[in-house]
Amino acid sequence: MKVRKAVIPAAGLGTRMLPATKTVPKEMLPLVDKPVIQYIIEEAVAAGIEDILIVTNRAKSAMDDYFDYYPELEDRLQRSGKEKELAEVKRSADLANIFYVRQKETKGLGHAIWRAKRFVGDEPFAVLLGDDIMKAQKPVIRQLIDAAEKYDRSCVGVQSVATEAISKYSSVKVSPLEERTFAVSDMNEKPTREQMLSNYAILGRYVLTPDIFPILETLEPGYGGEIQLTDGLKVLAHQDKMLAVDFEGRRYDTGNLKGFLEATVDFALEHPETGDWLRAFLKEKAAAL
Ligand code: UTP
Repeated sequence: MKVRKAVIPAAGLGTRMLPATKTVPKEMLPLVDKPVIQYIIEEAVAAGIEDILIVTNRAKSAMDDYFDYYPELEDRLQRSGKEKELAEVKRSADLANIFYVRQKETKGLGHAIWRAKRFVGDEPFAVLLGDDIMKAQKPVIRQLIDAAEKYDRSCVGVQSVATEAISKYSSVKVSPLEERTFAVSDMNEKPTREQMLSNYAILGRYVLTPDIFPILETLEPGYGGEIQLTDGLKVLAHQDKMLAVDFEGRRYDTGNLKGFLEATVDFALEHPETGDWLRAFLKEKAAAL
């Protein structure tokens, strides 16, 4: 298999980040100087993906605008000699071939992925959740694509999480294949401690084959009354068509306040314009605590 396309589901309501997300999509909140969604697109592009579908909704057109040209602004920057800003503004519009589809009702992640069926056709595809950001040497989605292409199977990105935290995620039942790569035979969405299958939790990255679409089509609502992607993936896992990669890298859930702040601090510490200043500022703050 060869993975050339990616889908970014970004149609969730973002209720954990209210009130900001009442009118600003959570994917458009700035992490230092770029919106969250740009980091995710950059990860896909760095992994060699050219065609990207964003699943949006009626409240999220700021995303389409962001990845478009803005001639009036570009003219103004050009005339005032703001070369650096001009280059950045243009770069965001030229990152990839970006397509959009709307999820007309917020029926869950599984339903959002189902909306990608026409875009995907009969090819395998990558999925990057619109609020999960990764910091890694090798793009996390590339780590998954390498395993999926090698074994010709779907793949989920996992990391080990504390037992107390597993009920926030999907847990997977795994058996080792090679270093950091496992076969998955079962999975559970938001398990209780009794239901958990291992400490490995799915964290925001997937490579899927189009086998998932007929499964999603007939899926009943699951946890929280939503069509859950994990319930569909479980069917593939039962058919021995699923891998898990324990990926190398740090994941930030920018869809909740603490994860968003952690990402802001870590990315600002690495940013050439803010790194030294923030380090000094944090030291001063820490000394006063
Ligand atoms: P989340 O549960 O993290 O996002 O969904 P949410 O629904 O926006 O969160 P809260 O709880 O209200 O704050 C995981 C991913 O699935 C997408 C979200 O945009 C996010 O990328 N999603 C979720 C959809 O695209 N459609 C849906 O109906 C639900």
